[in-house]
Amino acid sequence: MTSTSTSTTLPAFLGPEVAADPYAFYRRLRAEAPVHWDQNFGGFLLSRHADVGAAYRNSVFSTQNYEVHLEPVFGRSLLQMDGSEHSRKRGLVTPHFRGKGLESWLPVIARNVNLILDRSVQNATDMLVSGFRPGKTVDLLGEFAYYLPVYVITDMLGLPHSDYDRFLGWYTAQVNFLGNLGRDPGIDALGRQATAELWEYLTPVIQERRRNPGEDLISALVTAEIDGESLDDAEVRTHITQLLNAGSETTGKTLASAVTHLLTERELFERALSDRDYLMAAVSETLRFTPPSQMNGRKVTEDVEIEGVTIPKGSVVMLLIASANRDERRFANSETFDPDRSDLDHSKAFAASGEHFAFGFGRHFCLGAMLARGELQIALNTLLDKFPDMQFADGVAPRWAGLKMRSVESLPVTL
Ligand code: HEM
Repeated sequence: MTSTSTSTTLPAFLGPEVAADPYAFYRRLRAEAPVHWDQNFGGFLLSRHADVGAAYRNSVFSTQNYEVHLEPVFGRSLLQMDGSEHSRKRGLVTPHFRGKGLESWLPVIARNVNLILDRSVQNATDMLVSGFRPGKTVDLLGEFAYYLPVYVITDMLGLPHSDYDRFLGWYTAQVNFLGNLGRDPGIDALGRQATAELWEYLTPVIQERRRNPGEDLISALVTAEIDGESLDDAEVRTHITQLLNAGSETTGKTLASAVTHLLTERELFERALSDRDYLMAAVSETLRFTPPSQMNGRKVTEDVEIEGVTIPKGSVVMLLIASANRDERRFANSETFDPDRSDLDHSKAFAASGEHFAFGFGRHFCLGAMLARGELQIALNTLLDKFPDMQFADGVAPRWAGLKMRSVESLPVTL
């Protein structure tokens, strides 16, 4: 048994070579060093599907590491909790993101898709361009996918449209904080300030909804009660902050990545136009092939042995979703984007079945997976209906970027 992997020739996890092509690095990790200690990062990397799945299931792999990365902007959120505290608090919000609770939110999503398209027309008119309509070139990530989930969640919270842009500002500062692996102090300060402002905004709203509950998510959170347990104001604020952040960048990036894959091979786009089940299969394959959230961190609470390597108690371990999803031990032709593949059950793409790990796995499995499905389905169908001739602007496929969160940097398309 060894305490580190043996490979010394692998590039540094946080270095430029991996940033340029993380998938090439992950391929080498899976083959040469499935449990790899990275000196510069100061933690272990797990890359194979079976090992990542086992780690998600094993309570020794705790989420204590989120204290540093998330608590300053989220407060103490679900992601940090374990055991019965986690199940009790998660139970209070789960009904609103699953089954019947979710169905009532779908019309809200449909309204927002149209609103964003209308809004883009308005913006374009203001800028003396012709609007979001066939033939126009727009950045589908920056002008559509980035806005959609923030507007949806703000609408779900029952907040006025006039406050959408304030939410977008707070959200952007918080996302920058979460992506700030180098801990730039200026970015950190803006993230903390955004949270302080968001919470100052939310506190009187939460108190008002306690007095006069309505048909919105804040009212649902303040009135939720299970076995005499309910959420106090700080917990409601934390949930809202987490929902705003956890659901927005991920969903927006998934939408942009799915459209990119479809446009890269025109016949895939044409097929998605005429077969909307195929469209959702392509979304499912996008989640496997290019998951927006490429990794989840954990901290081990005891020594644990994987693939003959001992990971000592207290170590930080990165579960590499993006690598596990391309493990050739689990998926045939794993490095090929193929919505027709038979080894990924698309009907389970948004379920906690562990086929791919884009939504995590086990007790912290994404709470918003079904909501994301609804948003992606409605938004993509609307885009295809309205813009069947969509293609990359100037025929050029966009550039992929990002290590922790990854998607195309922008998505210029001619509609
Ligand atoms: C395609 C879109 C999405 C992706 C890829 C995604 C991905 C993930 C992943 C990987 C985790 C697990 C984190 C971990 O174990 O450390 C997670 C957890 C979570 N997600 Fe999502 N997410 C998406 C959309 C959403 C949406 C729309 C919401 C809600 C508005 C949401 C809310 C949450 C919450 C609350 C958790 C924490 C659950 C817990 O700790 O029990 N997510 N998500």
